[in-house]
Amino acid sequence: MSQVHISTHPLVQHKLALLRDRRTDPKMFRELLREIAVLIAYEATDDLATEEVTVMTPMGQASGRRLRERVGLVPILRAGLGMVEGFWNMMPNIEVWHIGLFRDEQTLEPVEYYNRLPVSPTVDVCLVLDPMLATGGSAVAAVDILKNWGAKRIKFAGVIAAPEGVQHLTTAHLDVPLYLAAVDERLNDVGYIVPGLGDAGDRLFGTG
Ligand code: PRP
Ligand code: URA
Repeated sequence: MSQVHISTHPLVQHKLALLRDRRTDPKMFRELLREIAVLIAYEATDDLATEEVTVMTPMGQASGRRLRERVGLVPILRAGLGMVEGFWNMMPNIEVWHIGLFRDEQTLEPVEYYNRLPVSPTVDVCLVLDPMLATGGSAVAAVDILKNWGAKRIKFAGVIAAPEGVQHLTTAHLDVPLYLAAVDERLNDVGYIVPGLGDAGDRLFGTG
């Protein structure tokens, strides 16, 4: 199975075009990102383990299945926060552990500024959330942090990637599958994805 999953779902593609549009204001941007996250969550969780359960319906006994694995969300601050609500819509009781990273504007290297992970892993599967995978530095750093913490199973859920970011993350972490809505043409000379959508954090929080 391929390590890189790019959604071809018509709803994802429809919402992605609206998300990219420079006329989309922060309120609409937040709504669209949440909605795309719901759809990416559906795809990124398609191999979670389940176990059999029995429930009583008003008509009698029915067998069904429930999630067996404990899932944790790890949004990369800030823009990853925009995907949390969508994943929560699908899995309301899962834990959320934040990692704060920003890119140094000169070197494009990630700088860690927030990490309050507990002493040892409390979940079976970590879903790293960040809508933008540009050089891949932030995602690789987040996965490094989680692996050093002891996380065994890690997935990356994003929205738009540059080919350079996909290459970086898949090479650094062969065991981490990627779930994306698009892989764009390239990075420009200041590390922005082209055509991308601009600065995701600024568009999400209205700080641009
Ligand atoms: C953006 C984005 C990713 C990172 C991607 O964050 O949300 O975290 O850049 O770039 P990379 O793949 O080259 O590391 P940014 O550093 O702008 O911080 P912000 O989300 O707080 O705006
Ligand atoms: N971060 C963003 O928000 N956008 C890009 O295009 C690259 C990194």
